[in-house]
Amino acid sequence: MRRKLVVGNWKMNGDLARNRELLGALSTRVPDEVDCAVCVPFPYLAQARELLSGASVTLGAQDVSEFAEGAYTGEVSAAMLADFGCRYTIVGHSERRSMFGDDSALVGRKALAAMRVGLVPILCVGESLEERSSGRTEAVLRGQLDAVAGIVGASSLSKLVIAYEPVWAIGTGQAASAAQVQSVLSFVRGWLADRTPGADDVRILYGGSVKPESAGPLFGLPDSDGGLIGAASLIAAQFLGICEAARIAWQDNVRQFEGLK
Ligand code: PGA
Repeated sequence: MRRKLVVGNWKMNGDLARNRELLGALSTRVPDEVDCAVCVPFPYLAQARELLSGASVTLGAQDVSEFAEGAYTGEVSAAMLADFGCRYTIVGHSERRSMFGDDSALVGRKALAAMRVGLVPILCVGESLEERSSGRTEAVLRGQLDAVAGIVGASSLSKLVIAYEPVWAIGTGQAASAAQVQSVLSFVRGWLADRTPGADDVRILYGGSVKPESAGPLFGLPDSDGGLIGAASLIAAQFLGICEAARIAWQDNVRQFEGLK
């Protein structure tokens, strides 16, 4: 059975003092039954690694270079992230796609670079409001997923975490409805199943304005394995509330599973 995964995406937020406070609050209070990670800005990886040593919260980055090493000013390689104890890196976040020109081919190359050193890429996919309104949600996601699959190869798809993040729900306070989320997560699961026997092992997250109140219903959906959390990951009480919702959803899954035996 897939464990729930809750990942905080701090984006370009934090400083040494605030990070210490936030990670101090998380390190001892995250429930053991939930996999939990924080993706911090590059300069704070060393600090976060130290503050999380011995804690069950794992570390991630928000982006990675497609290149392994060399004359690429400003880039950060996957091996460097691994050196600092990262387990995950986000690739293809909609803010990178829309503001920094990361197209799906580049996202695929970044995912591949991450996998080559054993990092788990958290591949973000999602449609804009205009794409949803014109009925193109699945076509857009298929395009984003196919491009990455073409680069990493079908046999590597089971090594990804996929985060469905509708662009219109990110940072807007307007999470997608449970029905909208389940419909897309099940589409993604079906897309995976057509390509890899490992489809049932892949964790598919939802991201976009998740708050402690909305997390429960979203994490309880049949194809949901947790969330990618932006704003609420910067507030310890909210992030812990979301982790607790994941713990409860996980317990429900275990109960259902036991009931089926
Ligand atoms: P949000 O961000 O939770 O602030 O909407 C989610 C994300 O961008 O990953």
